[in-house]
Amino acid sequence: MQTLQDKNIVIGITGGIAAYKIPELVRRLKDQGANVRVVMTDGAKAFITPLTLQAVSGYAVSDSLLDTEAELAMGHIELAKWADLVLVAPATANTLAKFAHGLAADLLSTIILATNAPIVVIPAMNQQMWHAQATQDNIAILQNRQVSIWGPAQGEQACGDLGYGRMIEVAEIVERTCQLYQTKSLTDQHWVITAGPTREAIDPVRYISNHSSGKMGFAIAEAAQQAGASVTLISGPVNLPTPPGVERIDIESAEQLHQQALKSAPKATVFIACAAVADYRVEQVAPHKIKKTNDNEQMQLNLVKNPDIVADVAQLTNKPFTVGFAAETQDVEQYALAKLKRKNLDLIAANDVAQQGQGFNSDNNALTVFSREKQFDIPLANKQIVAQQLVKLISEQLD
Ligand code: C5P
Repeated sequence: MQTLQDKNIVIGITGGIAAYKIPELVRRLKDQGANVRVVMTDGAKAFITPLTLQAVSGYAVSDSLLDTEAELAMGHIELAKWADLVLVAPATANTLAKFAHGLAADLLSTIILATNAPIVVIPAMNQQMWHAQATQDNIAILQNRQVSIWGPAQGEQACGDLGYGRMIEVAEIVERTCQLYQTKSLTDQHWVITAGPTREAIDPVRYISNHSSGKMGFAIAEAAQQAGASVTLISGPVNLPTPPGVERIDIESAEQLHQQALKSAPKATVFIACAAVADYRVEQVAPHKIKKTNDNEQMQLNLVKNPDIVADVAQLTNKPFTVGFAAETQDVEQYALAKLKRKNLDLIAANDVAQQGQGFNSDNNALTVFSREKQFDIPLANKQIVAQQLVKLISEQLD
């Protein structure tokens, strides 16, 4: 399979002399299986024609925010959503400034604001402009927002100067783009993933549960299956279709999840605990529906602790590579690392559920993944992309 098979890449071209190299970049990315759509700024069109880019990409170039016809064909928000990756090359100092300060001044800067795909900017400019404090401050802002900055390279510049400011070579851009998606094949590996909420019965009609949608765990199961693993997904009650090729076991309570997990985990290469397991269950489940009575203004439920499933898996003698999740609202790093050690995990993926637009029930997520020695950031994106990055990260840690 080609590395970029079916990946949707938006390439934003801005007004630098290196723009003349972008048709070659488009062709090389397409060779790897990517679908490429090109967005050009007015400055870019001074260096290279939209017709050239249309010919190599196979799609009309998008260049205006206010073009009614173009908006009808694929509007700017649609294009921003279509993208699995946005590459901006060459990125001028002016473009970096617009991105850093959140301007929606033209089609490209608007797409940058509207996308939740990973963004890579590939700067190219005069070396003095690159070293200017304003540019460096803008770069720092973008890096802080998890935008990747590739280059610039050092060498001779079109203006005759020598120094940092050349766009990195097309071959390097293609190589680095492929690396973003190169997941080692997981054939011969068995991954077990828990997902969704648990339901702890109170009586035959009532239960205690939580808002977990299961989306993150299902996306991880799909990504691991696509990377070649055989996957068992142990799921609480959720409203999601089973990803193709994935074995799904449905459970309701934490105790059922515990039982299934301990059955599957000893044969697994990787165990990922994504389920939002209820910490406590009702001690005595009533055999019949509990009636409300006129004399009782209050009722008491006695709760007992549920088994910690991921911690028990991590105690197995033939323990799989064990990954936990930590949904925190504060002091994310501190709590996540403490949990990693206490539960004897190999990795813990922490998400800050206090942040709007990510985590529980959302389509998007951002993770900080901790091992005992290292920290890895997976920037805010839709859960499918985050899952692919997480699967790649785990597969790299297995060696
Ligand atoms: O302790 P806490 O619930 O914050 O830990 C979260 C991690 O532990 C998640 O990976 C979750 O799936 C797992 N967990 C578990 N069994 C429990 C509670 C949490 O496997 N009873």
